[in-house]
Amino acid sequence: MNIRALDLHDDGRTPPATGLLEIVRRGLRAQPKRLPSWLFYDAPGSALFERICEQPEYYLTRCETALMQAHAAGIADTLGVDVRLVEYGSGNAAKTRLLLEHMAAPVSYVPVEISPEPLQQSVRRLGERFPQLAVQPLCADFTRALRLPIPSRAPRRTVLYFPGSTIGNFDTRDAVALLRKMRGEMGDNGGILIGADLKKDPALIEAAYNDAAGVTAEFTLNMLARLNRELGCDFDLAGFRHRAHYNALAGRIETSLVSQRAQKVRLGRGTVVFGDGEAIRVEISCKYSLEDFAALAGKAGLEVLRVWLDPERMFSVQYLVRAGSVAR
Ligand code: TRP
Repeated sequence: MNIRALDLHDDGRTPPATGLLEIVRRGLRAQPKRLPSWLFYDAPGSALFERICEQPEYYLTRCETALMQAHAAGIADTLGVDVRLVEYGSGNAAKTRLLLEHMAAPVSYVPVEISPEPLQQSVRRLGERFPQLAVQPLCADFTRALRLPIPSRAPRRTVLYFPGSTIGNFDTRDAVALLRKMRGEMGDNGGILIGADLKKDPALIEAAYNDAAGVTAEFTLNMLARLNRELGCDFDLAGFRHRAHYNALAGRIETSLVSQRAQKVRLGRGTVVFGDGEAIRVEISCKYSLEDFAALAGKAGLEVLRVWLDPERMFSVQYLVRAGSVAR
């Protein structure tokens, strides 16, 4: 679908279809093979992700939503008045609603989302619920430099909202680089409201990425289905298996698609060869202690101003500001 036809503000930085083949070729030639995780989020993938969030094993969304429900007023109070709220990877923006209910006169809400369909739908729904709110959607890859739409009045501060523990989908180096980019975008007086999943019993973590209904498996395999649809590849979806394993040493879930036999797959004019049991790494999901996360923030020139936890300490929502900006 043509992004521009949807009348969303497209900053032209989302991965163009022509570049897709090259990106996939590079990833599948690498050793070990890998594919970038933004590839998950086409329209079917985004819909599958929403279903993951409803699975009983996927505690992340449930805990974060409960946390936002319990603390929305306190969080909104911490953010203050006349805030411009920018959300990274807004999806259906379900948690954002809880926040917006409590925020005093937000200047604008800027959802940044790579997938145009959920973006357009969430903008429409938010408009119905918050008719006074200026919504300025941006269809873009949030890892790139963003050209934020100009707000109609000057905000007191820009708050970047980054829920879902999506920061955990980046290794330390990339996470620091992303947080540094965010630090620049939010400005001197800004802040980052971020969801971070916490270390806990590995069995609980592993179950969250291996739901019994098989929705997560379908979600990861959709990446190959997408390559079949968009690049004319001939991945046999029955020839690959979803695998998500908790690497306790690294403190992260490692998700792969594993070839179930030796096989060849068409890619552009060439082919890619897979060995029996060979894996394509498609995602990592890092888990943090509060100390881990404070150290990560510190590496990006940020400090943790507040932390909100659910009663079981499964998940955290944290408010980060520029290091040294708080008078003590
Ligand atoms: N940010 C989510 C997470 O790391 C994304 C996610 C959930 C995911 N389930 C997944 C990514 C399965 C890949 C595979 O928890």
